[in-house]
Amino acid sequence: MTDNSCQNSWVYSDEVKEHFLNPKNFLMGDESKYKYDAKGIVGNPICGDQMCMMLKIDKKTDTILDVKWKTYGCASAIASTSALSELAKGRTLNEALKISAQEIADYLGGLPAQKFHCSVLGHEALKNAIDNYRQNSQNNL
Ligand code: FES
Repeated sequence: MTDNSCQNSWVYSDEVKEHFLNPKNFLMGDESKYKYDAKGIVGNPICGDQMCMMLKIDKKTDTILDVKWKTYGCASAIASTSALSELAKGRTLNEALKISAQEIADYLGGLPAQKFHCSVLGHEALKNAIDNYRQNSQNNL
């Protein structure tokens, strides 16, 4: 039998609501005004969402100094990427790549299981940005 109720399991945590309504590090306006060292753009073929992420990186220590992002993604993708952007700042590139969907969900006080995949979108954009940064660094040697 199908459960047709729309109750407890549909409730977002207060942290998810806060990060959705007031996303951290969201890029407002024209990205050409933001100077960045790395940029990644990915799309989720399942739902057609797109995510763009830009990083400022300390080249000597490989540390992420700042993160900006924007997306067409859903509320969970927005909240998850807001959390990811806060978690990534101050970490080295390798440390940032290890941020897991579970760490993001924990930071947000939980995510409904059906929305876990939304946190992957931001992480893929982060990985894409880091891959592009490393590729460009190799090419400039
Ligand atoms: Fe596509 Fe959330 S449903 S990112």
